[in-house]
Amino acid sequence: MKKTFFSGMAGMMLLASCLTMSGFLSTSCTPKNTEPAKPQMISLPVPERESGQTDVVGLVAPALDTVRVGFIGLGMRGPGAVQRFTHIDGTKIVALCDLRPECVENAQKILTNAGLPEAAAYSGSEDAWKQLCERDDIDLVYIATDWKHHAPMAIYAMEHGKHVAIEVPAAMSMDEIWALINTSEKTRKHCMQLENCVYDFFELTTLNMAQQGLFGEILHVEGSYIHNLEDFWGAYWNNWRLDYNRTHRGDVYPTHGIGPACQLLDIHRGDKMNYLVAMDTKSVGAPRYIKEKTGEVVTDFKNGDHTLTLIRTENGKTIHIQHNVVSPRPYSRMYQLTGTDGFANKYPVEGYALRPAQVSSDVAPNHEDLSAHGFVPEDVKKALMEKYKHPIHKELEETAKKVGGHGGMDYIMDYRLVYCLRNGLPLDMDVYDLAEWCCLTELTGISIENNSAPVEIPDFTRGAWNKVKGYRHAMKN
Ligand SMILES: NC(=O)c1ccc[n+]([C@@H]2O[C@H](COP(=O)([O-])OP(=O)(O)OC[C@H]3O[C@@H](n4cnc5c(N)ncnc54)[C@H](O)[C@@H]3O)[C@@H](O)[C@H]2O)c1
Repeated sequence: MKKTFFSGMAGMMLLASCLTMSGFLSTSCTPKNTEPAKPQMISLPVPERESGQTDVVGLVAPALDTVRVGFIGLGMRGPGAVQRFTHIDGTKIVALCDLRPECVENAQKILTNAGLPEAAAYSGSEDAWKQLCERDDIDLVYIATDWKHHAPMAIYAMEHGKHVAIEVPAAMSMDEIWALINTSEKTRKHCMQLENCVYDFFELTTLNMAQQGLFGEILHVEGSYIHNLEDFWGAYWNNWRLDYNRTHRGDVYPTHGIGPACQLLDIHRGDKMNYLVAMDTKSVGAPRYIKEKTGEVVTDFKNGDHTLTLIRTENGKTIHIQHNVVSPRPYSRMYQLTGTDGFANKYPVEGYALRPAQVSSDVAPNHEDLSAHGFVPEDVKKALMEKYKHPIHKELEETAKKVGGHGGMDYIMDYRLVYCLRNGLPLDMDVYDLAEWCCLTELTGISIENNSAPVEIPDFTRGAWNKVKGYRHAMKN
């Protein structure tokens, strides 16, 4: 008894001496013959679902013959969407809104140039967009404003009976994310994030290969937003983007990298992300830019030049995401996957490496030329990409390249949104995708501020993450 008490006391003293300020155990102090204690996980509260409210996994809404749309936010990004919608059958552009009247006037010209009637115009006041949402002849509100306006506008629109499509990132905090989820669940309205990169040609072809088992079991995926924005900072309305980076640490623009990664891993369709850890460099590029442009010496710039995030999933997969918008580097979304039977990589060189047995003889007759130690030869890659071209690309490739928008992926995104709404199908991206991809904005900041401590990624479906097995695009029969 005495001995047990003593060893208990000694254990407690040892434990206390090994605890650091932040509550972590130093492994060198771990007592022998015991399981090493796990570092503390930071968890944020998960709001309870109200009674009567249910999840919106696989949500379908009544099919719409014509999708009547209102656009809010017509700065650099919004007008391209208006333009693309003029090419999509079964749509009607009913209303246009921007704080700045000249932006609405410019977008009206897109309609008249396309031989379409002018739309109802809303501008001139911070709240004019509410009148657009309150109209009873609109089915879809398409939001392309600065980040801070996204969630409030989408929530108001859903509360007024509209489906919403929101530019990236659709939400910037956990509070906004939960509010969007709860509103979509209560109103049964679609809430889609406009993540275009999941429709890019290499990504969608590779997703198709993955879904057909070419890479075996996918274990690790990577993605990023690496884009030097020096030439663009000054063009954003009211300097909103640089200001946001100045006041927020963490990966504030994660969706282009994590969206394609989550689709490859079937996130909330058989797997779920459990936790992340993040780290950043100090901030040098943006303060230097500001000093050069304005003379201001900035010492409080929060966003690091390079931010890295690691995520582990329930099924033991890993994701690596990066963000850098200030360094002189070539554009990259990384996009890389490692599977038990193959590997794919997009930047800086597109390529596939596969175990020879994975490559059928219609793609490469000479198997002796293949080895998984290097990329498959160019002609094999071409044949693979042709064989595994996604049905969506087969249907839309030609028009997408003509209409354009980041090489066609923006058109495909809008087309698919309209197609699913018109056919009463679940959308390609639901509100939980939005939540999972956007939660990095706040959670990476929390990890970084706590010495890269693990931060729990909640199950945004609140229990429904394993209901659907495998990610698929819905198609009409
Ligand atoms: N998916 C992509 O590839 C991609 C590319 C570029 C931008 N984006 C996203 O698109 C969004 C818009 O970016 P941008 O480059 O067009 O920025 P921008 O600054 O050019 O445009 C924002 C517009 O919002 C308007 N606005 C602000 N407050 C408003 C209000 N209360 N009511 C109505 N309008 C209001 C501004 O007047 C401005 O015209 C951002 O979320 C951005 O991240 C996505």
